[in-house]
Amino acid sequence: MAHRLTVIGTGYLGATHAACMADLGFEVIGLDIDQRKIDQLSAGHLPFYEPGLEPVLRRNLENGRLRFTTSYEELAEFGDVHFVCVGTPQKLGEYAADLTFVDEAVDALAPLLRRPCLVVGKSTVPVGTAGRLAERIARQAPAAGDAVLAWNPEFLREGFAVQDTLHPDRIVIGVPGEQGAAEHAEKVLRAIYAPMLAEGTPFIVADYPTSELVKVSANAFLATKISFINAMAEVCEAAHADVTKLSEALSYDDRIGGKFLGAGLGFGGGCLPKDIRAFMARAGELGADQALTFLREVDEINIRRRIRMVDLARHQLGGSFIDRTVGVLGAAFKPNSDDIRDSPALDVAASIRGQGATVTVYDPQAMENARRAHPDLTFGGSALEAAKDAHVVLLLTEWAEFRDMDPFELGAVVAEKNIVDGRNALDPERWRAAGWSYRALGRPQAP
Ligand code: UDX
Repeated sequence: MAHRLTVIGTGYLGATHAACMADLGFEVIGLDIDQRKIDQLSAGHLPFYEPGLEPVLRRNLENGRLRFTTSYEELAEFGDVHFVCVGTPQKLGEYAADLTFVDEAVDALAPLLRRPCLVVGKSTVPVGTAGRLAERIARQAPAAGDAVLAWNPEFLREGFAVQDTLHPDRIVIGVPGEQGAAEHAEKVLRAIYAPMLAEGTPFIVADYPTSELVKVSANAFLATKISFINAMAEVCEAAHADVTKLSEALSYDDRIGGKFLGAGLGFGGGCLPKDIRAFMARAGELGADQALTFLREVDEINIRRRIRMVDLARHQLGGSFIDRTVGVLGAAFKPNSDDIRDSPALDVAASIRGQGATVTVYDPQAMENARRAHPDLTFGGSALEAAKDAHVVLLLTEWAEFRDMDPFELGAVVAEKNIVDGRNALDPERWRAAGWSYRALGRPQAP
């Protein structure tokens, strides 16, 4: 089956999906309403940092399988399958997800759907959205029942987007209730994902609401796992125990596993924080809010880690930030990303700045985004520049170049050899042996 695919929304998810689908051999058009993004992508440049994606983008632009547009007419004319990959951010001042972009995309596309096609939602949405959108498409599309909606949640991680798209852990699809339409949707998606299925990737066919819930419950589980170990870190701090040893010991239990058991500054980014909040809001609307009250605690434990980090830094400075210089290593919400959405690192840096310190930040990739969002902070061109004359250095995002830092080299530029490791990324003994006062979240002070 030769399918011509379109991808609506060219953020992290959409740009990756478009480039990877073209790499699998499909003809693909990506659409965005932001002309600047379209110009950048058409010229082979990513509007964000994602390791390994730019070469995939470029080779598919060059071989002619991939192009970008702002025209829905062009998209509807071209595509057999339309993937909806637009963002669903948190509503301002509320927990719920803002579905404006999804609704607008569907409303722009549906009236132009004149021939049989499949619309595939990939955006993370509150349960019940697919059913609502299916009705919206049926109401507006000239092709009526021949324009079928499927849901196909995406689980990719930033920093591993290409790998996760081409070799996912599983593929989940939500299909409509009508048998004919359901069979058609499954057949089309099986054909598109054939290379993954040939690798033995599990393929789960469900109804709309189940497929929508798989995504949000996966993120809720991951967030819970991180907050669980961070809750243990709080107890470790009170009991003078070491959460990194605790986490290692837990990880050998196959039922628990070691992934997402890294204690530290907690989770941030464009997904986990807003997804658990939107999940709580949606459960409330459905009358099932009691089922998810634990997620409020998960969120609070996560926020408490940022406060604890600030307290620890202040403690290391003798109780006040006034007239003190703080070097901050990391601005992105995690390594291998330039994404600063809900970044714990920048939250901590801004709070310390607000309490009177001079704060100099360095991040290998997120400087431009960080500078735009926090013009009040000072920025250095390297870890050494950020740490220059610092009374305390804070490691807030565990980039490899920070893990590998030489404590003697850094020690030569600071005012005081004082470091707080917010990600449990450094070897305490190595740093203490080099004359540093080393503190970390969830670990005891030096013996
Ligand atoms: C997440 C999900 O992993 C992905 O499946 C989904 O599609 C989107 O949301 P992402 O936001 O890219 O992906 O980041 P992820 O790697 O999950 O990390 C999230 C946050 O958790 C980061 O801030 C990271 O620093 C933190 N984290 C992760 C921890 O604090 N400890 C850990 O052990 C793991």
